[in-house]
Amino acid sequence: MRGRTALVTGAGTGIGRAVALRLVELGADVVGVGRRPERLAETARLAGERFEATPLDVRDRAAAAAFVAGLGRLDLLVNNAGGQFVAPAAGISRRGFDAVADLNLTALAALLQAARAGLTTAGGRVVNLSLSAPDRGIAGLAHSAAARAGIAALTRSLAREWPGVRLFCLAPGTVLTAGVGDELPPEVLARIVATTPLGRDTSLAEVAEWVAALGSGVADAVSGALIELDGGSGLVSAASLTG
Ligand SMILES: NC(=O)c1ccc[n+]([C@@H]2O[C@H](COP(=O)([O-])OP(=O)(O)OC[C@H]3O[C@@H](n4cnc5c(N)ncnc54)[C@H](OP(=O)(O)O)[C@@H]3O)[C@@H](O)[C@H]2O)c1
Repeated sequence: MRGRTALVTGAGTGIGRAVALRLVELGADVVGVGRRPERLAETARLAGERFEATPLDVRDRAAAAAFVAGLGRLDLLVNNAGGQFVAPAAGISRRGFDAVADLNLTALAALLQAARAGLTTAGGRVVNLSLSAPDRGIAGLAHSAAARAGIAALTRSLAREWPGVRLFCLAPGTVLTAGVGDELPPEVLARIVATTPLGRDTSLAEVAEWVAALGSGVADAVSGALIELDGGSGLVSAASLTG
């Protein structure tokens, strides 16, 4: 990855931090964004000088577009920033639905549009983080499942429209980050892991390695694919987060 520039959204915590650290380790110059400067600063401390942190809300269209355009050539874009809250579909307000759909789909689409020129110049690669089995539905996450199924469709569509750019949709199963711990109680996480065919979670290191591999060019014969890094949990699609 030496000499390549990567942008990682949500680089101050969890998966985004692990991805940023792995890319730096492999020689890339990494730009990390997120809203909380103190979390980004901790990633910067761990990563060293080839990591540059910029506080940015990816939902702020004008700021995000200007920032991405300012990067110029972009070898790898990792759209990792995301989040949701668990609720039965009937109880999700319009504001709540819109916020989750915006963060996890619409803002991501806008960032991709802004990054197109830089990605095209570089013949770059994109990894869009999603959820396992988004197209099969997730009880308790209707808003996020809808947005994440949208990401898979967006990934496929852009793979058809932007032939020089490789796009991947990477869908981890359960990754035991602080972020997922805020969204789901431990007993629900344990139940999801127990019903996974491989009976295990997905580690941060595994997600980071997959992102690095997809970003490195070893999968350059592939574009538009949804890759479920989930121990087979998408095959049983047992996830019901509301009980
Ligand atoms: N952990 C899992 O089991 C799992 C499984 C499948 C998919 N995922 C997805 O993988 C991604 C990372 O998850 P995680 O577990 O690492 O959770 P996390 O630690 O909560 O990561 C979410 C990151 O997104 C950033 N973010 C949120 N809103 C943002 C905004 N408006 N602008 C810029 N950055 C924003 C957050 O930083 P700030 O709050 O500082 O902005 C945070 O760094 C998420 O999209 C998540 O849904 C996670």
